[in-house]
Amino acid sequence: MTLVEEALALIKRNRRTTDGYTYTVPSPDVYPYQWLWDSCFHAIVLAKHEPEAAKDELRALVSRQFADGMIPHIIYWVPGTLHAYDWGVPGTSALTQPPMLSYAAWALHEATQDDAFLTEMLPSLKRFYAYLIDKRDPNHHHLVGIINPDESGEDNSPRFDDVLHVPLDINMPDHLARRLELVDANRACHFDAAECMKRHFWVKDVPFNAILIENLRLLSVLAARGGDDTLRAWASTNASLVESAMRERLWTSGVFWSAVAIEDYELLRVDTWARFAPLFAGLYTPEEARALVDQDLFNPDTFWSQHGLRTVSRAEASYRPSGYWRGSVWVAPHWFVYKGLVRYGFLEEAKRIREVSEKLLVTSGFREYFNPETGEGYGAHSFTWGALITDMIEA
Ligand code: GLC
Repeated sequence: MTLVEEALALIKRNRRTTDGYTYTVPSPDVYPYQWLWDSCFHAIVLAKHEPEAAKDELRALVSRQFADGMIPHIIYWVPGTLHAYDWGVPGTSALTQPPMLSYAAWALHEATQDDAFLTEMLPSLKRFYAYLIDKRDPNHHHLVGIINPDESGEDNSPRFDDVLHVPLDINMPDHLARRLELVDANRACHFDAAECMKRHFWVKDVPFNAILIENLRLLSVLAARGGDDTLRAWASTNASLVESAMRERLWTSGVFWSAVAIEDYELLRVDTWARFAPLFAGLYTPEEARALVDQDLFNPDTFWSQHGLRTVSRAEASYRPSGYWRGSVWVAPHWFVYKGLVRYGFLEEAKRIREVSEKLLVTSGFREYFNPETGEGYGAHSFTWGALITDMIEA
């Protein structure tokens, strides 16, 4: 079997149907439910191969959209004890995740030209992005805030250490306990960002906002295809507003940094792969991008290892090669950076990311995350993110 065939077979094996909804679990043992950005990745991979399954995946996601437009990051389709936290709502979490939904719907429309499905999805897309812009930016700074590190998709990343007041050497259970304290605090104020944010955790995260910009642009494209001119204009205007605000508030001396926005905007200068995420949305000038790639991306003293991109610079005191999001290699960041490099025309560099990913998956299997120094795989088995390799190979 080729790697692409293996990836597609894995996604198929992890497919489940419950209550008439069909979705894919990221891993049968460790993640036996549906996750938001994971499902977007699945739909991107399936778009060209099994478009009907990709549509089902997105239908299942939006079926649990909240009345205010939020889409929860976990849908507990089947009862279980894993990740069973008290979110204060039935059947789902009360947090969201990086908003890749428009991208997934766009990839599907590119592959199928299915206008009927587009028409079906547009109302949910509109409500989700309107929620982010209206409810997660209550002071109209044009940057969307996250209320828990889990919303970044990088649960224990050290870029949030200062805001969480946790030590460098914090272990995974203690870190989770800290994030669950946040959930308790947010539950008490009904996850109302405007009410809770200043008291607990309020971060304008670089990858989240970069992903938002690209997704708003694609929402604008989809709205144009669907004949909704108001939505087209709204999405495009907000993409530009967030783009300018990132430049104004999160950028300094050639690099974007996440910020805590409790008093003023205080940059969280912990050096993680977040500095490369804006490539995905083309937010660096070509000159800045060139410098970033030459000086940092392939620098063995900071981000580049024999087995791929460290999620935290090796020069950071918090760097841990087996530390989950505290330095380990993950395939999704590879995919975002790959897309960014292609966008800038850095094709040789993109090829390096693709090749290192292929080698890692062939050698260590479809594991959740990997040791940058040894290539050893860790965490969940049969983890679906490796399937993003198909989108790098077939691009
Ligand atoms: C972990 C990851 C998160 C992902 C989830 C399911 O919590 O940090 O990004 O969505 O697993 O795969």
